[in-house]
Amino acid sequence: MNKAIDNIEQNLDKWDRSYTWPEDGDEWRGQALACNVTYEIWKQSLVDHLITPYIHGANVIEIAPGHGRWTEYLVKAKALTLVDLSPNCLDFCRNKFRDHTNLEYWQTDGAGLPADHTGLIDLVWSYDAFVHMHPDVVESYILDRAGPEAGWGGNPASCRCSGS
Ligand SMILES: C[S@@+](CC[C@H](N)C(=O)[O-])C[C@H]1O[C@@H](n2cnc3c(N)ncnc32)[C@H](O)[C@@H]1O
Repeated sequence: MNKAIDNIEQNLDKWDRSYTWPEDGDEWRGQALACNVTYEIWKQSLVDHLITPYIHGANVIEIAPGHGRWTEYLVKAKALTLVDLSPNCLDFCRNKFRDHTNLEYWQTDGAGLPADHTGLIDLVWSYDAFVHMHPDVVESYILDRAGPEAGWGGNPASCRCSGS
């Protein structure tokens, strides 16, 4: 588990302290380029196909919101809990979404989700986060904490497994 702990510490250092977030996540355009469409079309397509149809009246968890690139669409859910390793990212989102009353914020230790949501979640969303995690960390999230054995229920939606 040492490599997993190292990975969590490296991710905390990078995303909480070093990375400058020049466009709050919208700087990551590689997936749109790979699809040969504009970033705006690519992003709207993900929102239209993977977010909007599933969030009406739903209880949603977003793992690793960063600076809220997808949160601005997920916030239309009934209730949304933002879970991130980085306290600075959570603070950024607290400020960005301060007018929304259906949001909760939860700082994770790097592999855990809030236990009091067990059985209450309709959708778990995460984008461009698990690709940065050690396989043991991913397993902890998927199998031990968020899987059906833990009674979470709901649907996982996680994108971006490779590429820039
Ligand atoms: C590349 S950014 C993606 C942010 C956002 N999802 C987006 O698409 O704009 C990676 C995010 O993953 C978070 N992160 C990295 N490792 C994590 C872990 N083990 N648990 C929770 N969040 C983590 C970082 O703090 C950062 O917010």
